Amino acid sequence: MNKPYLTGHFTPHVDEVTARDLVVEGALPAELTGRLVRNSHNPLPGVTPTHWWKGSGMVHGIRLRDGRAEWYRNRWVRTPALDGAPYMTEKGPDLTASTAGTHVIEHAGRLLALCEANYPFELTPELETVGAYDFGGKLTTMMTAHPKSDPVTGELHFFGSSPFPPHLVYHVASETGEIEFSEEVPGATASLKHDFAITEHFVVFVEGSVTFDHTETSGIPYSWSDDQVTRIGVMPRGRGGAARIRWFAIEPGSLLHVANAYEDAEGRIVLEGPAMDRDGFRRSWKWWAGLPGHGVVPGSRSFNRRWVVDPRTGTVAEDVIDDLVIEFPTINDDLLGREHRYQYSISFPDDRGVGGYGVVKYDRVSGGRQVLPVGDGRLPSEAVFVPAAGAVNEDDGYLLTVVSDLHADASRLLVLDAADLNRPPVAAVHLPRRVVAGIHGSWISDN
Ligand SMILES: [Fe+2]
Repeated sequence: MNKPYLTGHFTPHVDEVTARDLVVEGALPAELTGRLVRNSHNPLPGVTPTHWWKGSGMVHGIRLRDGRAEWYRNRWVRTPALDGAPYMTEKGPDLTASTAGTHVIEHAGRLLALCEANYPFELTPELETVGAYDFGGKLTTMMTAHPKSDPVTGELHFFGSSPFPPHLVYHVASETGEIEFSEEVPGATASLKHDFAITEHFVVFVEGSVTFDHTETSGIPYSWSDDQVTRIGVMPRGRGGAARIRWFAIEPGSLLHVANAYEDAEGRIVLEGPAMDRDGFRRSWKWWAGLPGHGVVPGSRSFNRRWVVDPRTGTVAEDVIDDLVIEFPTINDDLLGREHRYQYSISFPDDRGVGGYGVVKYDRVSGGRQVLPVGDGRLPSEAVFVPAAGAVNEDDGYLLTVVSDLHADASRLLVLDAADLNRPPVAAVHLPRRVVAGIHGSWISDN
């Protein structure tokens, strides 16, 4: 059977290329000087991973400078896993045996390719692999692929979540990249924790209904369990906070990605992001593992939700707030941890294949949404928001998304006006090939 994650938009590349002086339609804003770096699962030719997430990481970079598109390049992340090293050894997990295929971030001048079960892998600005990075020996756990950079303090907050005790360790690194402290979070379980949130005063974890299952045969040892208590954990930021975590039960579900969290005027913690119910998760998992009965897209029944945690009453109000199937929520990261007005996402066809892929903008004040369909046979990547120079409003800026086109066997980087998705793209950069559908990425400004 053809694994869905090796077909169509997900068909892996068989080589590494570098292309220079790319064709640009429209006018690239000179302020977009930096690199868009994206990550994807791209197994070597001849390798069929048992799960989408087991595919080796390949990063794609697009270099923009002063109104020009200087280069595109794609590179495998050179990890022991790429050479076939096993993750589990007699001594336990090998944290360097990473696919490094989930996300790419920069912190304190280091470009890091991330996969949640391992150490990060450092890359050069030209995307060559430097090696595993353990913060000078201070990181002794896995590292989430979704660390949070606090726009006010510059700190990097992250965690290691493991199926083995300790199940959850919280870390904070300074703006200059030193791990300042690490704390074990008591009472955490083996629930899969892919993402989390920070607010001005709190750290927010989600233990969903998907948890460690040693009988799972896909190579990723997790499955849905009705016995797993689904809950939100809220703890104060700073040293000693972990011991004061409080857990709040919520409806069963699986949240992969957080859009944002913040404290409202009443001191409640508001958390938003797309989440799946049991049926949606199981159909999605079948897609990710390439099993019969999978949905038509990687994320089935993934709808935007809101949880409002009231620490005084110990209650959580929970709502599904939209009916589009979406994933890859992003915001203007200057608002990370503070109340945001706009959320961006990628919309998917529904579970029957109805509808198409698009870029979505939610306005939390008006309650409205804009959907920009990208067209037949096309798939947009996670839309990364970049503020405009001198921005006044939250949505003064650009959305960067790589749109792959199966019919043309090519891709374009679209630079969209985030203030109004219905305006024509600000610019489009022609890439020399179809870019494989990936996971997450970042804009890394030269500034
Ligand atoms: Fe993710």
